[in-house]
Order: sequence, then structure tokens, then C-alpha cells
Amino acid sequence: MISKHLNEELNQQITYEFYSSHLYLAMSAKLASIDFIGAATWMRTQAEEERVHALKIVDYILETGGEVNITGFEDPDIKADNILGIFEQGLEHEKFVTDRINFLMGLATEEKNYAAINFLNWFVNEQVEEESNAETIIRSLKLIGNDGNGLYQIDKELGARTTVGITSQT
Ligand SMILES: [Fe+2]
Ligand SMILES: [Fe+2]
Repeated sequence: MISKHLNEELNQQITYEFYSSHLYLAMSAKLASIDFIGAATWMRTQAEEERVHALKIVDYILETGGEVNITGFEDPDIKADNILGIFEQGLEHEKFVTDRINFLMGLATEEKNYAAINFLNWFVNEQVEEESNAETIIRSLKLIGNDGNGLYQIDKELGARTTVGITSQT
């Protein structure tokens, strides 16, 4: 069982996860348009992953007898037109999502809802990974600067990402 309050906030989180997916898809298209095909692939995989996050929450609400309410969101706005700026915006967004997950965890803790705490733990760990991935890429991009060879290499490496980083959906 989940409380009405936690149910509402989880519904809000579904919206944020779908928004994340949209944002990363827009970033993917932007990266492809500036010829970073590998980075565009990486971002598209990230967009897929965010969709899986949203569905995970949908399933959890259903499983716990709550009510799923799918709502809309604003258009994603890509501010940068270069690869470093795009990944920096991605990191900023992930920090926002981490705050949201921490907020949800706080709520579940207040309510002593141990099942929800257990469910949300997966997202806590996922956010550590998301921020760390983005930070690693940003650090490399800063080192590379405008070096053509370096940019070519990192784009190739990012393009190797094909799997959604989810080990279990249960
Ligand atoms: Fe997510
Ligand atoms: Fe991930």
C-alpha cells in the first residue's frame, strides 16, 4: 500500500522520468546535427533508459494498489550547441532528478514505508551512476578541448554504448 501523498509524488516522478527521456532524445538529435554520431547514440540509449525508469514507477504504483496518473510536461530546451555544453546540461538535469529521488525517499522514510524505501533504493543507486557517468564524460571532454583526434576518439567510445543500463526490472 502507498499513501495518497506518496502516490501523487510518484506520479509526478513518472512525468519527470518521461521528461528526461524527451530531453535526452532532443540532445541526441542536436548531437547528431553537429556530427557527433557516437554521442548521439549514447544519448538515445539514455533516453530509452529514462523511459524504463518511468515504467518501473508505473508498475510499482500498480503493484501497491495506487492510482497511475500520466500527465504532460513542458518542451525540452537544449541550451548549448556544443558537445561539452550538452553533457553539462545533462549533468545539471541529473542533479535535479537526484534531489527529487532524495525527496521521495524522505517522504517514504517519514511514513515508515519500508517497501517504498526498498523500491526507491534502486533509484538512489541509479542516480549515483548517472551523475558519475556524466561527470566522467565531462572531465574527458574538458581535457580534450578542441583536439580533433580526441573528439573523434571519444565520440567513437560513446557510440559503443548500446545497452540500457538496467540489470533487473523487478
Ligand atoms: Fe531516470
Ligand atoms: Fe543509468
